[in-house]
This record gives sequence, C-alpha cells and structure tokens, in this order.
Amino acid sequence: MSAMNPLRITAFASGRGSNLLAILKNIEEGAINARVVGVISNNSKSGALQMAYGRGISGYHITRRHFSADEDYEQHILDVLAELGTDLVILAGYMKMMPERVVRAYKNRMLNIHPALLPAFGGKGLYGQHVHEAVLEYGCKVSGVTVHLVDADYDTGAPVLQRCVPVKDDDTPTTLAARILQVEHEIYSEAIRLFADDKIRIEGRRVRTLP
Ligand code: GAR
Repeated sequence: MSAMNPLRITAFASGRGSNLLAILKNIEEGAINARVVGVISNNSKSGALQMAYGRGISGYHITRRHFSADEDYEQHILDVLAELGTDLVILAGYMKMMPERVVRAYKNRMLNIHPALLPAFGGKGLYGQHVHEAVLEYGCKVSGVTVHLVDADYDTGAPVLQRCVPVKDDDTPTTLAARILQVEHEIYSEAIRLFADDKIRIEGRRVRTLP
C-alpha cells in the first residue's frame, strides 16, 4: 500500500450500482488506498445514490433538466467535483453523456467501465443489456470488459485494462451479462488501485502500467 494520501474518488452512476459496491468493499477491506467522497446520479431513485446515503457518503442528484442552460449544468458539476476535492472521477454505469467541459477538466483523471472489448460494441446506444444482445447477435465467441479513460465521445477513450470473457453457445444476454459483471467487479478496482498507487503512465493512447 502506498504511503500517499488516499485518492479522492467521485463516482457517477445511474442504476443499481453493483460496480460501485464492489469498489466500496475493496476500499473498506484496505485493498485500494482511496476514498469515495461523493456519488452523483442523474436518477434520484438509483441504487448507487441510496448506497451513498446509507454509507454517509455525499450523494447528489444532478440532472440537466434542473438547469436552464448547458453552462449552468456543467458549472454545477464542476463546482461539486471541486468542493469534494476530487482526484479521480469514475463512471460506474452512468448512462448520460459527460459534458465535454467536465471531461476536459478531468483529462486523464476520468474512467469508465464498458461491458465489452472496445472498440467493438461501443458507442451511442450500446450500453448495458444492449451490448450483450449485439454481441450474441453477431455470434461472437468472446466478449469482455474494458476500463478506459473518458474522452469527449462515447466509449472512445484509451483503454487502461481489458479482460476477455468467453461467450457460451447457450448464452442469453442475461447469462452473458452476469459472467461479464463478475469480471467488471474485479478489474474496475484493479484499475483504480493502479491510479491510487501512481502506477499509470499515459503517452497518447498508450496507457502503461508500472509493476
Ligand atoms: C455495467 O455492466 C456497466 O459496464 C454498464 O452498465 C452496467 C452498470 O451496472 N455500463 C455501460 O454500459 C456504459 N456504457 P451497475 O449499475 O450494477 O454497476
């Protein structure tokens, strides 16, 4: 474990928050030198937000609908992230586009997890269950997980970690999603640990990890 101050993480999540829960558990067990300081959701009913409230983590329901102009919405997100002293932003099942201004402010300090091997099966409309439906429809024999840096487009940032997951002949989107989710819960924490321990070096699109 590094002697550095814990990495301050703010998570964005829209849904049940199983990735967030896996990360919180790994932090609680001391496997990652980090602290989740805030959870932001576009969905007031999200499991992720309830998880934050239940654990005494600052939770924020932030949606574009509450603002009259894009600039005010973006500024509010930036203000909250700054108030929380955010070192790293993680998107954990966040189904909204992150405004470009926020992405720029956290360049190389914002991660997303995607339930496929990018650049295949990513982009607008390919999220959650839709990804697994598309993988099965194509007839793929492998799928997987990608943790990547976030840039201004959907799922196009440089990969940090990727892992393969086999597709079985009798898979349905639900069974494939479940097998992939187990791997998501492992590698998102691994990627965050690399950032927390300062073991990431970024050179253009090449993200190297130090031993
Ligand atoms: C996860 O499978 C995640 O990879 C996916 O949504 C699910 C969220 O589950 N994200 C995307 O598809 C983003 N493009 P969770 O709420 O239980 O963490």
